[in-house]
This record gives sequence, C-alpha cells and structure tokens, in this order.
Amino acid sequence: MAIVPRQHITQQKIAEHVQRLGELYPPIRLDSVDRTIKRPWLVAKKFGHVIDYLARVELEVDRNVLELLVLLPDADDTNKTFYADVWQPQEIQHGLILDRLQQDLGRTAAEPELELSFGIKILGALAHLKPIQEIAKLMYFLTGASTERQAVLAYNKINRGMQELGETAISETIITPIKQQEPGHFAFYQMSATAMIQDKVLRPWQLFLTRVMREKSYHLVGTNHMRQYKADMGGVMATLGLDDDLEGYAREVGRVEHRLLWAHKQGMEFPPYILKALKESVELYRDRLERGLKFA
Ligand SMILES: [Fe+2]
Ligand SMILES: [Fe+2]
Repeated sequence: MAIVPRQHITQQKIAEHVQRLGELYPPIRLDSVDRTIKRPWLVAKKFGHVIDYLARVELEVDRNVLELLVLLPDADDTNKTFYADVWQPQEIQHGLILDRLQQDLGRTAAEPELELSFGIKILGALAHLKPIQEIAKLMYFLTGASTERQAVLAYNKINRGMQELGETAISETIITPIKQQEPGHFAFYQMSATAMIQDKVLRPWQLFLTRVMREKSYHLVGTNHMRQYKADMGGVMATLGLDDDLEGYAREVGRVEHRLLWAHKQGMEFPPYILKALKESVELYRDRLERGLKFA
C-alpha cells in the first residue's frame, strides 16, 4: 500500500475505498475462530499482557464512536458509513475475539474505558463552530492514522511470535484475519487527512492550532493519558521488540502527520512529540519493572 499518495485524493476515491472495505472484510465471526491453544501457559507468559492490552483497546471502539459523534456533529455520509458500517463492526469483533482468547488463557476479561473524557466534552461543545469542527476533523483523521498504524505493526509482530511458538490456530484464525482489516482503516484515515490538506480546507491559523494541539494531546494507542496504561504500552512495545529502535518506530507511526503538518520543518524526521510519548511509555514500564511489579 502506498503510504505517501502523490495523486489527488477525491471524496469519490475515499467513498469507493470505504465501500470496498465493507465488501471485502465482513466482521470476523466468533465461531470462525479455532480455539486450539497448544501451550496456553506459554502463550500467557509471553503474550498474555499484550493480548490484554489489545483486547481492551479494541473494545474501546464504542467510546471512540461516542467521541467522534461528539467531535464531528456534521460528519458526512462517507464518514458515517465508515464508522457505523465498517470500522465499528470490525473493531468490536477484534475486541470480542481477543477478549475471549485472553480468558481462554486464564486471564481476566478486559475492562474497557467507555466514559468520555472531560477534554472531549469541552472540545465537543466547541466543535459546533465550523472552524473548530474542521480542526477536530483533521485531528480525528491524524489520530486514526497513527493508531491504526500502531495496530498494524503490533499485529505483525505478535503474529510472528505466535508462529514461532507454533500456535497456528491463534495465528491463522485470530491474528491474521484481524491484521488484514487494519491497513484498510489506516488507508481511510490517511486518505481523509491528505484530502483535507490537498483541498486546503484549513486556513493557516487552523493548521497552526492543529499542530499545537497535536503537540499537547498526542498519546499512544490505548493509553488514554493514564500513567498505568502508558506503562502497559511500554510493556507491549518491549515484548514485541518495538523498543529496539524508537526513532524508526516514531518515523513509521508519525509518517502521515509529518508529511501533512510538518513538511516545512527542515531536518525533522518525525514529530518530536511522538518520540517523546514512546520514550515516556518505555521509561514508565522500566520503572515498574524495577519496582518489581511486572504487569500490575
Ligand atoms: Fe482492530
Ligand atoms: Fe483498526
């Protein structure tokens, strides 16, 4: 998949992409999963906390839908079709399937955060003003591109790990089907954000504010601005080997917004706040390890 589209992204193209995703990838059914686990204790030991994390984040899709209803009161038909008919139905199945897997491994069920944060409610109140709505929309697409990219990378790594453990049922009937659906989500957000920049929807002051807000509010997928989840995410990165090259990871995760918001900054390879968030998570996880609490 082209990560940097040079051609003009029309609304028609985005609508066709959404339609294709709906046709190609129906939500994964729970009964399509082969629940064979050869060595549950080993899978739990190696990847238990990663599966816990992914299950919770996927189940939080219902809060994400509430957030976008608040933030984007004027969402157009393509956006509505995407989140209501494609994205939410796919993500919730990812969550339910992973949540059942974690329970099959003897771990406790996920507890997703489904309450809207105060910040979102405030921004929602302002989002009825058109210029703010436009900023919120670009922020929403950039957040989507960054989080979906993190999902793609995490599922690729965990899939390889499951294959190495010889857990073919988990790899072939859980992780692979989930992993196939994430790049389409990423492409939707990337195309949508790109179109807003190509069409010059935002005035310079709105772009300036978007940059400031990304710097102030950027967070890794599922951390919800909470210390505990940031440390958990650090643990996920450590287990999946994503902490070996944090700059390379920041480049991957930040590619879309680097290109769309920061291209004018000479010498910047990725938005610095992304690397900062990655380092913070890894450090919080290491602190926790030192204190002897592996995944409290
Ligand atoms: Fe997902
Ligand atoms: Fe996704």
